[in-house]
Amino acid sequence: MKKRIFSGVAPSGTIHIGNYLGALKNWVKLQDEFESIFCVVDMHAITLPRDPEELKRKTLDVAKIYLASGIDPAKCSLFIQSHVSEHAELSWILNTIAKTGELSRMTQFKDKSELATGNKDLSESVPLGIFNYPILMAADILLYDTNLVPVGEDQLQHIELTRILAKRFNNKFGETFVIPEGHVQKEGMRIMGLDDPTKKMSKSAASEYNYIALTDDEETVRRKIKKAVTDSGSEIVYRDDKPALMNLINIYSLLSDISAKEIEKKYEGKGYAEFKSDLADIVVEFLKPFQKKIAELSDEKVLEILLEGAKKVRPIAKTKLDEVKKKIGFII
Ligand code: TYM
Repeated sequence: MKKRIFSGVAPSGTIHIGNYLGALKNWVKLQDEFESIFCVVDMHAITLPRDPEELKRKTLDVAKIYLASGIDPAKCSLFIQSHVSEHAELSWILNTIAKTGELSRMTQFKDKSELATGNKDLSESVPLGIFNYPILMAADILLYDTNLVPVGEDQLQHIELTRILAKRFNNKFGETFVIPEGHVQKEGMRIMGLDDPTKKMSKSAASEYNYIALTDDEETVRRKIKKAVTDSGSEIVYRDDKPALMNLINIYSLLSDISAKEIEKKYEGKGYAEFKSDLADIVVEFLKPFQKKIAELSDEKVLEILLEGAKKVRPIAKTKLDEVKKKIGFII
């Protein structure tokens, strides 16, 4: 039997090239080898206030991004999280075995709380959903006996918590959950901001110069790459003490399949201007067919795929949730 992967993207903010290189690109690679389930996690998106119309739009747009990236609905199940209510139910049950201390140590909780309150005061005004967000993520993963969770580095802490909760449940109620593992691709797992190579490229960045959106047009891509910060010196080298350049070389390498070593060689004796101009060409060439595919997908077609996906995965989720309910003493 094939092993199973599960992953998802939240329909919030601007989906960027970091999401693609850190997650989606690997999903596409893994879909032949694994039984694959990919989810648009709309319930995660509402942990910060969202405009309802915009949430609807983004939910379909994220599914279109999956398809344009090369996720094949004939091989995988694609669905919207809120269409399978077992996620919410299992999440509640897992809430009862998680500890508040575990959740307060999550770095994303700290970051998102700052975003919600505009300061570092994590007290009165932090929405509770941001706090127990990782438990919903654990439910997503554990419902499907997931073996591997392909994500960017920022999600590994949540997967570690998922493993802890699964083991705790298994110890208390008997073998129920498969213990999943996170899966990252080294060069793409942490694409950094173009305006600040010490912080990851982020959907919710204040400046658009932080990221390249998957929907950016050619002129925007060229402008952003031109403005991207670089390190002191002028050589094109892939070294830890040149974090800005390392990040740009990683993007170049992942989109062109040319290794960092070869890129260094190619630009020996050349400067940033030429390197950046070529990088912009590579990004534009990647985005053009990608955006064309998105434009060709109708909302109706995508929704049809998502509804079909929910139909396929719901029985798996129900079977697992029923097993959990029986074990904890619910009458079903
Ligand atoms: P989200 O929507 O923030 O991000 C989607 C995916 O993109 C990866 N990513 C990055 N990778 C490399 N460099 C970056 N700068 C970068 N920024 C984001 C993320 O690691 C992620 O893989 N909680 C999750 C969604 C989720 C989920 C799940 C994932 C909900 N349930 C179950 C896996 C399994 C999130 O907010 O990802």
